[in-house]
Amino acid sequence: MPLVPLHEIYVDANKNYYAIGQFNVSNLELIQATLEAAQEMKSPVILATSKSAIKYAGLEYLIAMVKAGVNNVTVPVVLHLDHGTSFEDAKKCIEAGFTSVMIDGSALPFKENVKITREVVDFAHMHNITVEAELGKLGGIEDEVKVNDKETLLTDPAEAEQFVTESRCDSLAIAVGTSHGAYKFKGEAKLDFDRIKTIKKRLGIPLVLHGASGVPEELTKKLTKYGGKIPGAKGVPDEAYRKAIQYGINKVNIDTDLRLAFTSAIRETLTIKPDEFDPRKILGTGRKAVKEIIKHKIEVLGSAGKA
Ligand code: G3H
Ligand code: 13P
Ligand code: ZN
Repeated sequence: MPLVPLHEIYVDANKNYYAIGQFNVSNLELIQATLEAAQEMKSPVILATSKSAIKYAGLEYLIAMVKAGVNNVTVPVVLHLDHGTSFEDAKKCIEAGFTSVMIDGSALPFKENVKITREVVDFAHMHNITVEAELGKLGGIEDEVKVNDKETLLTDPAEAEQFVTESRCDSLAIAVGTSHGAYKFKGEAKLDFDRIKTIKKRLGIPLVLHGASGVPEELTKKLTKYGGKIPGAKGVPDEAYRKAIQYGINKVNIDTDLRLAFTSAIRETLTIKPDEFDPRKILGTGRKAVKEIIKHKIEVLGSAGKA
């Protein structure tokens, strides 16, 4: 099945309150693991590459691998640019065959964010591609952060409405307490669910949760057991996904969990099989572990059986 535009799979997710997983990929094994998991779970799926993933693997390699992979699956697959930061990033990916792009102007002042997003939207829409934008700053909402500081970090509902009207973006990544990487919360995991609800009511469009890895204990324990160091790592619990989705999140971005699954499996293999030096046997265990965690995410996000 050829790659599909993201908006084609968003329609049902937005109407029926489930989310589609975005899984970040940068090599053959991650691409294969994601496609195999989605196929087995009969789920639509989003493969995403960041700018640094493109720098690492090369745009042509990534596209060729994804296109080869989708020939073997029957579920809808989207190829998405994650955290593009310039018009040129988005244009290059759209022209190369990506079926969705993100322009992340969240570090810019409001007006500049609107301007760059609108520029990308105008170009993308001419190619029947939709655009994800971001408003607000990803970061924890720990108790020790002062209320005023919290407010300036998290996405403001009224500003979000103005932003979407002026930029004409199709979906919006919002800041509600998560952050990228393995260290999201110092204490209890806290997400501002009311904010998701309010923003969804005002906008109605698909909302995106970045920094959404779960950092499950079984993976951090395994990583540590085989020599890794990840003290104090903490992520988003499964229960929080369910609630966030019920309030209007339609896309959940996962990268860190795949890295943890891949690396912990490889560490284990290298430790328990010191005589193994065939990269296929080593990387293959990483691929299997990534596939398993993606299948679990698909189940929790509610997209299993939707394709
Ligand atoms: O949102 C960030 C993603 O996890 C991508 O990270 O730039 O290291 O590929 P990266
Ligand atoms: P994690 O670091 O929580 O996996 O977030 C990934 C992400 O938001 C990619 O855009
Ligand atoms: Zn992100």
